[in-house]
This record gives sequence, C-alpha cells and structure tokens, in this order.
Amino acid sequence: MSSNAHEIRPSTAVVALGRPDPEPDGPLNPPIVLSSTFRGSRAPEPGERVYARYANPSWEPLEAAIAALEESETPGLAFASGMAAVSAALSLVPIGGTAVVPSASYNGTIGLARDLAAEGALRLREIDPLDLDAATAALDGADLLWLESPTNPMLDIVDVPALAAAARARGVLVVVDNTFSTPLRQRPLAVGADAVVHSATKFIAGHSDVLLGLVVTRDPELRERLAKRRTLHGGIPGPFEAWLALRGLRTMALRLDRAEETAGELARRLARHPAVSRVRYPGLPHDPGHDRARAQLDGFGAVVSIELAGGAVAAESFVDALDLFTPATSLGGVESLVERRRRHAAEPVEVPESLVRLSIGIEHVEDLWSDLEQGLAGMGSAGASGAPAHTTPSGEYPA
Ligand SMILES: Cc1ncc(COP(=O)(O)O)c(C=O)c1O
Repeated sequence: MSSNAHEIRPSTAVVALGRPDPEPDGPLNPPIVLSSTFRGSRAPEPGERVYARYANPSWEPLEAAIAALEESETPGLAFASGMAAVSAALSLVPIGGTAVVPSASYNGTIGLARDLAAEGALRLREIDPLDLDAATAALDGADLLWLESPTNPMLDIVDVPALAAAARARGVLVVVDNTFSTPLRQRPLAVGADAVVHSATKFIAGHSDVLLGLVVTRDPELRERLAKRRTLHGGIPGPFEAWLALRGLRTMALRLDRAEETAGELARRLARHPAVSRVRYPGLPHDPGHDRARAQLDGFGAVVSIELAGGAVAAESFVDALDLFTPATSLGGVESLVERRRRHAAEPVEVPESLVRLSIGIEHVEDLWSDLEQGLAGMGSAGASGAPAHTTPSGEYPA
C-alpha cells in the first residue's frame, strides 16, 4: 500500500492512501475480498491472516489510511461499528480497574461505561472534563481516561493536551473519540492520546450508508491487545463495509470543507434569530470553547447545536416544520439531519431539553437557511414550554 502521507497534504492523502501497489493492469481501487478463510501454510508465519475474523485484506487499506491520517506508523483497526471500537477500547480497563469518563460523553459510551460499572466489571468516575482541576484529581489511581472533543451533542471543547498530559503523568491510558473532528481537523495522538476512536459511520464514510468503527494507536503492543479483543469479541466489519468507508474517505476533505463553511454561516445567522436562545458552535467568537478550538483544531466542524427559546415543545415543532433537513439520528453525511436530542431517554441529562442538533450536509447554504428560517417561523407551539413531546424507549442509544 502506498502511504506517503507525511509528504502530502491531508486533502491529497485521503485520495492517495490505501491504494493497491502499482502493477501493470492492476486495479486502482483495492478489491473486496469475500473469503472467510485463507489457504494455510504448513508452518504459519507471524502476520499470516489465517482466518477472516483475525485479519482481512479488505480492512487493510482503510486501516493503513486512517493510521497515516492520525499520524501513526502502526496500522489502525477496523471494527463493526463505532460502538464496537468504543467497547474494545473500554475493555482495556482491567476487571475492577477504574475508568474516568465524562458524564456528557456520547450516550452510547457513557451508557456502556455505566453498565460495566453496574455489573462490577470496572469502577467508573464520571467527570466534567471542562473542570480541569476536578478532572485531574479524578485521575489518581485510574487506569483509563476517556475524552471526546468536540462533544456530542453539546460541542464542548475539552482541553485534550492538558488532560492527556495529566493522565500520562499518572500512567493512565488516554483514549480520545475523534469522531466529530476527524483526523483532518484534530490529531489526538500528536498531543498525548494513546488511542483514537472513530465512529467512521459519520464523516469518514460520509454517506449514511454504512456502520463502521476505527481505532488507531502508535503503540504496537496496545494494537495487539485491541486486535485480540476484536478477534475474540468478533466485532469485525464486513468487507463491503470497509470498502465503502474507504470510498467515502476519498471525498472527506471536500465534504468537510463545504459542510463546515456552511455550518459556520448558518451558526452566525442562527445566533441572530430571536427564536434561538443559544447557538453552540465552536467557530462562533462568543462560544465558550472558541479559543480552545482555535488552538486545538484545524476547523470547527459541521455540527451546530441550538437551543430554542420556546423549550422542548417548540424544539419538536421546529424539527417537524423542516423540509430539507431530515429528522434522523446520526451526523456527518452528505445530507443535513436534525434531531432534538432529549427525545431519547438515553441522552445525558446535561443536554438541555430544547437542544436541537443540526448535522450540516453539503447542500447549498441558502437552501438550508431557507428551510431553517421557515422552520423557525412555522414552529406551531413557539413560545410554549413544558414536557417533551415524546421520547424513545430507554435502552435505545441514538447516534
Ligand atoms: C461521538 C460518537 N462516538 C461513537 C459513536 C458510535 O458509533 P456507531 O453508531 O458507529 O456505533 C457515535 C454515534 O453517534 C458518536 O457520535
């Protein structure tokens, strides 16, 4: 595989990485290999694939590409979903060990950590990562620190370098969920993380048609531990899913540039709208995370969260009034999606009831703005507040 990412810019790297070695008449794209097993040799060499749950030629181009983008020489690991990757990373905590996890992490992550704690598999210390002193104090004697930045859906910007340094000084393993920024905007391994996790379902694959997770570490031994979890837990991606994720990666720079520019413009306009009480977007100068985002990120991302002055009922009504934005959970695709997050019982209570998350796609900015404007004007019960209109059953974890 060609992996000359160090000499080329990231927007070129997403196109060039993970290609088959050049051969006359060879394919430009890696083939999808549909085989559950591989021919054995009499004396298997280390690194032989053996069986398609252990290693798979269809994962390898994607694993090489994500590693180069995250600035690691060690190949990444592809998983069946972002949650399979999260689960493998959390399983690095020894039985009875201590994990430090932000309460307002992605709801699947904190949900899994709480379940593991309730079952006695680990001890959980929940933190507010914005409170640096308290978060640092929680690290003493811990085994693993989980960070996510920007956070889903609050878009808080966590001081990743400071917390990673504090954790490393105490021998605590640092895992960063980089789903919202992608390696094009943030490279946590370069500022002290031991491992990076992605829901590649989102910006990396980018077309809302595949679930896939990725983990990258620079440490070959840590990779081995994670690979063993993947092999034995069986959370492996299918060959076609891995191929789709790599195909999506090819356009990630273009998609993200476009969606991010639109997100910034919409955030500025929404901040001036009287029906919107707060816009959460790290690109806005008044956002509490703005300075940190400027220091840590190469771009502010394509997710904007707003709070509606009329409360939860108005927020539901706003979502219903939109035409171009699709009401659906998930983000990072070419199409714009919208969701009032607390409609899901599993969403952390730190998330305001009226918060609506907008995942900005690649449509024209003026079409998206027209839709938002008419949605804000047409909120049936604007001004009303009170109980949420509906919630999904507990046990469902939205994306
Ligand atoms: C930040 C973050 N991490 C992990 C996940 C889980 O990913 P997946 O849905 O691919 O399992 C999600 C899903 O929304 C997410 O937003």
